Amino acid sequence: MLPTEKQYVQWHENETLRHARWLSQSNQVPPARIVSVDDKTTADEAYRLACAGTSMLWYGDFHNARQLLQAINRRIERSEQRKISKAANKLNKSAESPHSDKSTAESLVIPNLFHQQRQAQAQRSRVLSRLLLELDAGYVSQLRRAPDVSAACTAAFGELDESCLLSFRDLQGALGAAGWRAKGVPIESLGLSVFPHYGVFAPTRHEYVQLLLDAPLPDACDVAFDIGTGTGLLAIILAQRGVQQVVATDLNPRALACASENFARLELDAVQLQQADLFPTDAPLANLIVCNPPWLPAKPTSPLEYAVYDANSAMLRGFLQGAKPHLAEQGEVWLILSDLAEHLQLRSRDELLGWFADAGLEVKYRLDTQPKHGRSQDTTDPLFAARSAEITSLWCLVPFDN
Ligand SMILES: C[S@@+](CC[C@H](N)C(=O)[O-])C[C@H]1O[C@@H](n2cnc3c(N)ncnc32)[C@H](O)[C@@H]1O
Repeated sequence: MLPTEKQYVQWHENETLRHARWLSQSNQVPPARIVSVDDKTTADEAYRLACAGTSMLWYGDFHNARQLLQAINRRIERSEQRKISKAANKLNKSAESPHSDKSTAESLVIPNLFHQQRQAQAQRSRVLSRLLLELDAGYVSQLRRAPDVSAACTAAFGELDESCLLSFRDLQGALGAAGWRAKGVPIESLGLSVFPHYGVFAPTRHEYVQLLLDAPLPDACDVAFDIGTGTGLLAIILAQRGVQQVVATDLNPRALACASENFARLELDAVQLQQADLFPTDAPLANLIVCNPPWLPAKPTSPLEYAVYDANSAMLRGFLQGAKPHLAEQGEVWLILSDLAEHLQLRSRDELLGWFADAGLEVKYRLDTQPKHGRSQDTTDPLFAARSAEITSLWCLVPFDN
């Protein structure tokens, strides 16, 4: 989806002033300085230019641009690795005071490392986004050996009737998303696949699905809400478990289009969709409200991160605060939440329990599962201790007076 406000970029090509529509999925402003680069440009030169804030418009072979981007990425990784190890050593040393115990040391080191990793990711994204290409109207590339990227870009960014400049990185994002959309994410425990769209949370880590299958449905469960539905996965589970009316909401129009397509594929007539900030309007009271909010309380650095990062836990707290008035008698709230934020010292368990209590909710039971994804097994990750201890839970919450 293109931003409603169009932005344009201009640059010189052989002394001629050119201009084109500027597309940036991370909302970066149009670059002020653009130089021409091609197959003769070395990786070191491109890396130096990108780090210095210069954008580079590619005129060479399409596939060579991909290799150049990989070479720049390797240079960024080497530099990041050095910085993070240095910071980890420094922080570990300052925490190793004879008076500080293990938990004090961890509380000094881990949140700092998390923020450093986030800053490094944002910087990496800025540097990598400096390699640009031009596409004609309809997303047609004139570069040598360029594939047809038109369908992937139209699906990701919407129709385009003029030429544009965009980063290779954004183009790769669109091509990757088109691949997921075509092949789908298999959810083994359900025996089906969901098909994520560009910019929609892809449930590639879906250990929480089993929690939703194991939790006993409330005695009467005619109406359920799925708040922040994404691909529609949780609503699909509820409908398959026999809930007659499921109302699924999301703020992100891409998620609504995606969920609608997934429901249609599965011929699920029981699910209704609404674009809403949290709760649906004009819906009956719910016997069950489920929500899998973004898990980490940190500021999203681009619209694509809104499904993962929740600044100040605003969605989580808003969801908890707003749930009770939407519940029918004997109704339940199922909150799916990982405790990674607790291991990263970004939120404490007491804080979470306090938000439940403030919302008039208490814990009826909790189901836990331990993620087994790649990052939780990576011992070289400076945040390995936090990631390997992560537990994902389904918290079944009920109003105090139930
Ligand atoms: C972690 S994803 C979960 C997606 C899906 N429920 C699942 O489990 O795969 C969180 C979702 O919440 C949505 N979201 C974030 N803030 C929201 C809000 N205030 N109201 C409705 N949806 C919101 C995001 O767009 C995203 O689709």
